[in-house]
Amino acid sequence: MAQLWGGRFTKETDEAVYQFNASIGFDQKMYRQDIEGSIAHSKMLGKQGIISQEDVDAIIAGLESILADIESGKLEISSRYEDIHSFVEANLIDRIGDAGKRLHTGRSRNDQVALDMKLYTRNVIDHTDVLLKDLLMVLLDIIRNNTDTYMPGFTHLQKAQPTTLAHYMSAYFEMFVRDRQRLADIRKRMNLCPLGSGAMAGTTYPLDRAYTAELLGFDGPTRNSMDSVSDRDYVIELLSAFSTVMMHLSRFSEELILWNSNEYRFVEMDDAYSTGSSIMPQKKNPDIAELVRGKTGRVYGALISILTTMKGLPLAYNKDMQEDKEMAFDAFETVGDCLYLFTGMLSTISFRKDVMAKSAMNGFTNATDAADYLVNKGVPFRDAHGIIGRMVLLCIDKNCAIEDLSIDEFKELCPAFEEDIYDAISLETCVNKRLTLGAPGREAMDKVIAMYEAYLKDSKSL
Ligand code: ARG
Repeated sequence: MAQLWGGRFTKETDEAVYQFNASIGFDQKMYRQDIEGSIAHSKMLGKQGIISQEDVDAIIAGLESILADIESGKLEISSRYEDIHSFVEANLIDRIGDAGKRLHTGRSRNDQVALDMKLYTRNVIDHTDVLLKDLLMVLLDIIRNNTDTYMPGFTHLQKAQPTTLAHYMSAYFEMFVRDRQRLADIRKRMNLCPLGSGAMAGTTYPLDRAYTAELLGFDGPTRNSMDSVSDRDYVIELLSAFSTVMMHLSRFSEELILWNSNEYRFVEMDDAYSTGSSIMPQKKNPDIAELVRGKTGRVYGALISILTTMKGLPLAYNKDMQEDKEMAFDAFETVGDCLYLFTGMLSTISFRKDVMAKSAMNGFTNATDAADYLVNKGVPFRDAHGIIGRMVLLCIDKNCAIEDLSIDEFKELCPAFEEDIYDAISLETCVNKRLTLGAPGREAMDKVIAMYEAYLKDSKSL
């Protein structure tokens, strides 16, 4: 074991204590951020005349060589060190000697780890935003090509009213747009730099915190050193936003699993995104969608874990906070993998337009429109509702659709019916008469599609 402290200790740390205390097993993921932060810190120390320019040059060269060696596989991150910060610093001292011992001037591991975690999280946000945008592109493509792909819409999982595949996919488009907005909002709020907060009360060195903040792409330095070293709100916010992303992906997955079932047959998943059964030769299972749905639990778990870890902590840093990483990193990876795979799956799925349209015609999805027809002929809505209800009963009895009834049968139910009823309740009419913004009618959808195109092309807000 190799530690950065030990001066005031008279005994070696117990091995089990050392293992329990160490975080290198998981915080090694932040090696790049740790080095990036140290380079900025050393530049600032040099600029402020706290250490010599010669030392700064040696430190930067040393850190860059460590980074290069880790990335090339030449340098393995060793579990003999307590955490990634100790590993990098000890390695630097090995490489450049005394100059390396000056790097930690005016810094504590508390503001160092706060910085590393922020840089790491910010990266994850940026990466996830790209993945969300890729998913939106695939969705927009489906939307554009399916404004006249008719299908049933459901409430209570019962056929409700006819809609289009474009309209259905646009609902998911909206959810993922909100997810991106949440990420942007979190990024903006978190983008203040904690470096220079020291252990908890700042330092006595004349640090230029605005300078390091700028070097690291922050909007400025944080305003309270105690809060800076003990704030993990941004991790909580991100895990909350990620839980919502997963909830959306999970609902979407559930939908596709149903649609892919033998009963619905609305979609056919591509072979590349399906798996078989070891015993039943006929099987083609939607495992990717099921796994995305299943992995949602892990992400929720990470959110609850960190909320619970933080809830009883007095100011400022407490070692409990080391527990912010493992599950968060797992959740970050899970969301990235799920978005990537889901997008691939969605872009290769084929929609059975004929089955969807047929399903929209069966199941009385045009019953509301038949009632509206009567209202337009002067029948009060409540009466119309009753008449169509009786009509549906008759159709169930005859095992037919509303449009299969003869004009005499219509007239028998209500004399206000005329020949134009057939046109009024056709699938095309039912959908394309719905023209309020947000409805599935062709013209309404075209307006929305134009908004989506502008949003994805010019990053215009929606
Ligand atoms: N590994 C620690 C963490 O992740 C680094 C901070 C250590 N600070 C301390 N005072 N022990 O939180």
